[in-house]
Amino acid sequence: MIERSFDIPFIAELALREKQIQQNYRPIIAVHKWFARRPGTLFRGLLLAEFAEGPLREAFYRAHDLHGTRVADPFMGGGTPLIEANRAGCDVIGYDINPMAYWIVRQEIEHLDVPAYRQAANNLRARLEREVGQLYRTTCKECGSPDAHVKYFIWVKTHRCGHCGQTFDLFPGYLLAENRRHPQNVLICAMCGQLDEVEDRRNPGRCGTCGGALRLHGPAARNRCACPHCGHVNAYPDAAQGAPEHRMVAIEYHCPACMPRHAGRFFKVPDEADLHRYAAAASAWAQLDPQFVPDDEIPRGDETDRLHRWGYRRYREMFNTRQLLGLELSCRAIAECPDARLRNALATNLSDLLRYQNMLCRYDTMALKSLDVFSVHGFPVGLVQCESNLLGIANGGEGPNIGSGGWSTSSTSMPPPRPTATRRSRSNTGADARSLCRCRASGSASGARTRLRGPAGG
Ligand SMILES: C[S@@+](CC[C@H](N)C(=O)[O-])C[C@H]1O[C@@H](n2cnc3c(N)ncnc32)[C@H](O)[C@@H]1O
Ligand SMILES: [Zn+2]
Ligand SMILES: [Zn+2]
Ligand SMILES: [Zn+2]
Repeated sequence: MIERSFDIPFIAELALREKQIQQNYRPIIAVHKWFARRPGTLFRGLLLAEFAEGPLREAFYRAHDLHGTRVADPFMGGGTPLIEANRAGCDVIGYDINPMAYWIVRQEIEHLDVPAYRQAANNLRARLEREVGQLYRTTCKECGSPDAHVKYFIWVKTHRCGHCGQTFDLFPGYLLAENRRHPQNVLICAMCGQLDEVEDRRNPGRCGTCGGALRLHGPAARNRCACPHCGHVNAYPDAAQGAPEHRMVAIEYHCPACMPRHAGRFFKVPDEADLHRYAAAASAWAQLDPQFVPDDEIPRGDETDRLHRWGYRRYREMFNTRQLLGLELSCRAIAECPDARLRNALATNLSDLLRYQNMLCRYDTMALKSLDVFSVHGFPVGLVQCESNLLGIANGGEGPNIGSGGWSTSSTSMPPPRPTATRRSRSNTGADARSLCRCRASGSASGARTRLRGPAGG
């Protein structure tokens, strides 16, 4: 059947469209990162080519009830084939040697009480707001409100000079934001650190604060940087210096009060209070006895060797102390959730959130958003890093949330996708449910059985 009925041009077009709208179309498999996911449309096409009657172009949009058909995937990975089979009513069996694959697919496919989940997610967010919300506030430089919300803290790596011992910044360039999503280019002044908005970034002119010449390119290039104090040319990374240290150089924030009369984004140089907030996070972290932040060493490997070259020895060193504090407190709150299903769902959300809550995230100067650690394969260590607001910025139900990389993400509050025929499938009951938090709730196909095995056979 599959050889005769699979309609390549039809599925190719659907699959292409599915891949192009990934930011808006967030099926249940989007609940957690898994590498190299193929489109769900492809697997629905394969499945129906084999088991459904009539041309695929028609069967694809019909509801199906394939009860009694059992689909097994011995290498289930992120689970797209199993999810699609389950949506069409099949019983599914999956295996994977990777315990994370087993965990993710199980969370994707198991039934979730969506209202209860939403309540638990709201409780979690409210608790974190009380515990760490103040660490993500800043004073708006336009209106002086002390209650503006930080979207991103931008940090530059620092290096200790091998000759004079002084510390200096490793700036590869001084461009903070391009003039695509913001009216002007935003440059960090190499002399005084203030931010300048300029029309032509190739001819940026002089700093409005100190009068120094603005520069696009920084001193750090090709793993070399001259010390500004003594002129000695230092090579980086230097694993002997330990895990990299950073200096906060800029903040992108959101001020609801100024928003209606403000063009573009809000940027500022961190002020004393911003530095003080970070110090407060560090001292709160120092007083905690962490229960959930692992102390594990980073093993050797093709990709992790790069981390070792940068002086990272333990995974926890990839996070700054504000991130460690917020993640530890998130874990504590989740661990107290009495319902195991809800607790596991939130833990899955937290696991996915980790890719945005670490100091390997970069700031996309064009799109003006955080690029998570897995935006390219292989732990790229940049010189300028982006720390996202752990809580995210909820927009009170009025359109998409603001920014990304925290508990409230922009994607989760997107309007529901237009009804497509796949949603009409009778067994597809829960897959479009959405919540205020980072999750899509799933509902296993009514009556269909799922059996999944990880390495321990659990
Ligand atoms: C490319 S993924 C397959 C994903 C899924 N079948 C799909 O089509 O989307 C391959 C998966 O096989 C798993 N794997 C590799 N060797 C395995 C083994 N000996 N037993 C079980 N799973 C294995 C890997 O952990 C990985 O998740
Ligand atoms: Zn303001
Ligand atoms: Zn020096
Ligand atoms: Zn200046």
